Amino acid sequence: MENKRHIPDFFLLDDNSPIIWERRKAEIKELFQNEIYGHFPEKLTPSIKTEEREINFASKARWESVYFTFENDKGTHTVKTDLILPRGKTSIPVFLSIGFSADVPNKYLPIEEIIDNGFGVFHFCYENVTKDNNDFSDGLASLFEGDFGKITLWAYMASQCMDYLCTRDEVDTTRVAIIGHSRLGKTALVASAFDERFFLTCSNDSGCLGASVSRGKVAENETIEAITDVFPFWFSKKFLKYRDNVNSLPLDQHMLLALIAPRHLIIGTAKDDLWADNEGQLLSCTLASRAWELYGKAGLINDMCEPCAPFELTKGTVSFYEREGSHFQSRTDWIAYMKKFKEILNEA
Ligand code: GCU
Repeated sequence: MENKRHIPDFFLLDDNSPIIWERRKAEIKELFQNEIYGHFPEKLTPSIKTEEREINFASKARWESVYFTFENDKGTHTVKTDLILPRGKTSIPVFLSIGFSADVPNKYLPIEEIIDNGFGVFHFCYENVTKDNNDFSDGLASLFEGDFGKITLWAYMASQCMDYLCTRDEVDTTRVAIIGHSRLGKTALVASAFDERFFLTCSNDSGCLGASVSRGKVAENETIEAITDVFPFWFSKKFLKYRDNVNSLPLDQHMLLALIAPRHLIIGTAKDDLWADNEGQLLSCTLASRAWELYGKAGLINDMCEPCAPFELTKGTVSFYEREGSHFQSRTDWIAYMKKFKEILNEA
């Protein structure tokens, strides 16, 4: 796909050596924290309590609520999460789901279907971490000082969940997929960019400041100005200076995807979701693919058509797809993601 939006070359590599790229990656992580999302707070070690639930999906699964209690000299905060694992299995690949609702299942999370496909689910509701508003005295935000946006805190919790999964013998911790929709699709990307333990990243309809490039938006697309008008607290305070000056950003969103290389990445989009700028998301995948090539892998292979056929994910380690319909994390999306996850597992 042609770089019609003239996104500058933020890779800035003298040559294609992976060592130089690793160094540049560290700078890019700094830039994303300094300029856009804010800094990840210090890592706390939570105390963990688990509670077995009676309802267990027709006895096909074990369901435990897992409570993470974080404590420091500023206070304490507990986050409830839910772990649902197919019963009697070992080496279970797991979806870590960052969700809008604390209910399991919920409209975005068809647990039983996921279990039936052989996957476990570890789920937390983002607002149990910290509320989706400007109140930084709420929840986990109250334990830390510094310039971080709420997306960073939700991503911080995802890494904490990964730590916990590493303590579970039934889980294949080398096969954990992180998944989120919309603002939580943005969060899934940030979490995976900063935590290389995620094997697969499924970012659904993430759009502006998620998978889509920030430059070259058209009238129907969400812009930096629009997003910071309503959700300034998702980002670092410093980010506001780019509101009406997108071209001065020292990077663009494809570099966030590039940080996920050489791991597996799926960017899911919905045809009617003009706000999310699907063309900008596809361009992002195209430009980011250079990072996969640095590891000797194909990123996006878009030989089908542009955009690709509905419900088909493009081949390659970076998969893009556009389904029919509007902004939603639908069963159609889940089916596509699970199919791809299985393909990857079978290749290994
Ligand atoms: C708004 C916001 C988007 C976001 C979406 C969501 O539409 O403008 O950036 O992705 O909410 O999270 O549902």
